[in-house]
Amino acid sequence: MEFFNREEEINSILSLLEDEPDLIYFIYGPLNSGKTTLIKHIIENKLTDDYKVFYINFRTYLISEKREFIEAIFTTKKDNLFEKIKDKSEVLNLITKGAKILTGIPIPEIEFDKLFEEKINDAFQYLNDILLKVKENGKKPILILDEIQMIKDVVLNGQKYLLKELFQFLVSLTKEQHLCHVFCLSSDSLFIEYIYNTGELKDRADYILVDDFDKKTALRFIDFLSKNILNKKLSKDDKELIYSYVGGKPILIVKVIKKLRYNGLEEILDELLRDEMQKLKYFLEDVEEENKEFYNKVVDALRLFKEAYEVEDIKINKKIREFLVKKNILFLNPQKGILKPQSYLIWNAIKRAL
Ligand SMILES: Nc1ncnc2c1ncn2[C@@H]1O[C@H](COP(=O)(O)OP(=O)(O)OP(=O)(O)O)[C@@H](O)[C@H]1O
Ligand SMILES: [Mg+2]
Repeated sequence: MEFFNREEEINSILSLLEDEPDLIYFIYGPLNSGKTTLIKHIIENKLTDDYKVFYINFRTYLISEKREFIEAIFTTKKDNLFEKIKDKSEVLNLITKGAKILTGIPIPEIEFDKLFEEKINDAFQYLNDILLKVKENGKKPILILDEIQMIKDVVLNGQKYLLKELFQFLVSLTKEQHLCHVFCLSSDSLFIEYIYNTGELKDRADYILVDDFDKKTALRFIDFLSKNILNKKLSKDDKELIYSYVGGKPILIVKVIKKLRYNGLEEILDELLRDEMQKLKYFLEDVEEENKEFYNKVVDALRLFKEAYEVEDIKINKKIREFLVKKNILFLNPQKGILKPQSYLIWNAIKRAL
């Protein structure tokens, strides 16, 4: 699929990359808003060979303990090859020559096994040395940790120190050594808040929002896709109708346009909404069964969205709002203190169901 728009976000990220590393950046936004697609587009198409990118996607791994966390960060294999990394000279080759993007920190297998015997700091020290080598060789390192919420289990399994150590290390890479650009991506804004507080990140981190498209951009995205996929233009009414159901959520717009190859528009949109309403109904049923009083509060909270798409966070009791955010019904923008449904589709389901 061809990449669309996001000029503003691209420019702001590219301009950060021109400066020396100073802060940790959290790239956040609702589910499926296009965070991963954006960062991949930037590293694959917008960067010169002056950069060396370490892109680590935690979603590829199931991480519930420290060992799995370390395995997710490092690789003992050459990129895209089954061939093992034998020694340090091969590592050096990979990080100084090799591809612009690596999907793990290369390490020889013997060294890797040692990491589990020693303290977590040794793993970070190794990573630090790698980044220094990259810089010595005239390249600017970038470290990207995508889907960072996947490490939540390790942290909540009593390894809170791991999170703190990781982020103190990232602070040292940025604010202290100015060695490496660091981006952490997630749709879990509660977890980002948690990291911010646990990792002592005040003034050491900043946020970049990648939201669903606004209306104007969404309508242009519909034009872009209908030309590419359907090889035709949709009428203004059809475009407005799509927007009224799915809003600016890229993944849903793509889904609707692809389905238009075989189905009618109203049928597609009704089906999407019906599915979403069913999901909401079962969700509420479970909540009610668990605790009737809590259920009433949840329903009252959701009713606030009948009148508005965005609601100030403190209008909903903390326990209820965190529950609805965790369940991915609502998205919290912690910077602005605003809650909204995770998508227009959920918004429509809430409006109809309640
Ligand atoms: N700028 C874009 N141009 C074209 N398609 C896009 C764009 N942004 C998102 N998409 C579409 O939306 C889908 C979901 O995007 P993506 O996986 O990047 O979202 P995400 O925000 O990383 O999701 P998650 O919250 O699960 O991490 C992509 O597979 C792609 O089809
Ligand atoms: Mg993603």
